[in-house]
Amino acid sequence: MKIVITADLHADETADMGDADMNRLCRQIRWYAPDVLIVAGDLVGLGKSWIVPTLERLAPPKCLKLIVPGNHDLWLEGGDSFGYYRTLLPELYAACGWHMLDTGPKVVGSTAFVGTVGWYDYSFHDPASPLAPGKADYDYETKRWGGMPMWMDAVFVRLGMSDTTFNSLLLARLREQIKSLPRRVKTIVAVSHHIAFQDMVIRKPHDQEWNFCNAFQGSAGLGELLLEDPRVRFHFCGHSHFKRRLKRGALTSINIGSTYERKRLEMVEV
Ligand SMILES: [Fe+2]
Ligand SMILES: [Fe+2]
Repeated sequence: MKIVITADLHADETADMGDADMNRLCRQIRWYAPDVLIVAGDLVGLGKSWIVPTLERLAPPKCLKLIVPGNHDLWLEGGDSFGYYRTLLPELYAACGWHMLDTGPKVVGSTAFVGTVGWYDYSFHDPASPLAPGKADYDYETKRWGGMPMWMDAVFVRLGMSDTTFNSLLLARLREQIKSLPRRVKTIVAVSHHIAFQDMVIRKPHDQEWNFCNAFQGSAGLGELLLEDPRVRFHFCGHSHFKRRLKRGALTSINIGSTYERKRLEMVEV
C-alpha cells in the first residue's frame, strides 16, 4: 500500500507566494498515484472558503483520503473552536470525501490509520524558561509575551477549556482508537499535527521568543502513547515547518516540513 503524506499547506495564507508550488505538489501526488493520501493539518487558516477547493485540488479520485486538522484549521474570527472541531469540520471534510481521523480510525486489511490534531501541554517549553515564571514577562497559558499575544492561537482559538485539558482529552481518544483496533491489524500508522517527541523541537539558544513558542509545539505525552503499542510503526506530523525524522524502537516519526513557500510530501509503503 502506497501512502503519501503532506502537511502545512496553509492554502489561504500562501495563495500569492505558494500557489505555483501547490500546483507542483498536486502533480507530484498524482505522479505517485497513492493508495492513501494524508494531510497532517494546517490545510487552511482563517480562510475557510479555501477548504473545499484545496481538498478537491489535492486528491486523485481513487485513493483513500485521510486528514487531521492543525491548530490553524481551528482558527476562527469568533465562536467556538471546540464545537467547530467536533461537528462542523468533520462534516465538511466528509462532504469532500475525506475522513477526519480524529473521529475514528480507518482499517485497510492489516493496516490501521489513527490520528488526532494533537495539542500542546507546554511539555516542550524552553528548559531555561520555567513554566511558573514568577516575575518574568511571559505566560504560557495566555501565550503572551510582554502582555502581547505571541502565539496566535491565543487570539483565534477558543476551546472553552485549558490547553492541557484539551490535550489530555485528545490523548485519551487516541488511546481508545488504538485499543479498539481489531487483532488482524499488524501495522498502525499514526498521524497528528503537533509534535510528539522533544528531539524534534527546534531550539535556538539565543532566541528567547522562538523558545517561548516551543511550548506550543506539541506534547511529550503523545510520544509516550505512541510507544505503548509496538504495532505503531509510523507517526507523521507537521506544525514546526521543519523536516525531521527520528526512530524510537520500531517507530519512525516523520515531520513533513512544508513551509509557507515550499510544500513537501513523504511517501512510504507498508
Ligand atoms: Fe503550519
Ligand atoms: Fe500548526
